[in-house]
Amino acid sequence: MDTTPLFPTLRRVAHPLVQHKVTVLRDKRTPTKIFKELVDEIAMLMAYEATADLLLEPVTVETPLETTEGRQVSGKKLTLVPILRAGLGMVEGILRLVPAARVGHIGLYRDHDTLEPVDYYFKVPGDAAERDFFLLDPMLATGGSAVSAVASLKRAGATRIRFLCLVAAPEGVRRLADAHPDVIVYCAALDRELNPQGYILPGLGDAGDRLFGTR
Ligand code: PRP
Ligand code: URA
Repeated sequence: MDTTPLFPTLRRVAHPLVQHKVTVLRDKRTPTKIFKELVDEIAMLMAYEATADLLLEPVTVETPLETTEGRQVSGKKLTLVPILRAGLGMVEGILRLVPAARVGHIGLYRDHDTLEPVDYYFKVPGDAAERDFFLLDPMLATGGSAVSAVASLKRAGATRIRFLCLVAAPEGVRRLADAHPDVIVYCAALDRELNPQGYILPGLGDAGDRLFGTR
């Protein structure tokens, strides 16, 4: 995983498969079906890296031949929280790796004029303080949605939150780090900048529209 002193909270997953798949995702000719499959696969590969520091505890297991000591992921229950809509595309891939994870939902959309997030839904498990949260959204653009989603999770009692995105803009990484320096951000790509409409350049376009075939 790549790090840079410019963005201390950022971790870029440099794995060749992730980089290859992101490039296909960017291609405007990639159809919805393939786009969806790629988001799912990249999310799974990123989650593999983002869970590398999970704590393990010893557990006794009976093989068909004898009793032995194994190790299992300890204590803190994992919770995935997609930011609607586009974050939904990242859920299934991660659940294949961590089937016991719970799934919360945060509904937010960006106002087209102000680019500020508008809240419309919030539901996470009740015991938030005891959980490790993975907040999911393919795009970290101005960072407004991410800052608001993290604040909502914290209000619900969450203390351990990681943010997983596919493409991040420097502006968004900075804004999230200023507001929530405790939140580590995992991305597959750190892009150049935002355009005046708040789209990431070079980016991949509107992630929600490309995932769900709307426009
Ligand atoms: C997109 C994206 C993020 C947000 C990022 O969602 O999925 O949630 O924009 O932008 P920001 O960092 O500037 O806040 P959008 O608002 O288009 O909603 P949608 O997923 O329902 O299409
Ligand atoms: N949301 C998207 O879906 N794409 C961008 O480039 C920025 C925000």
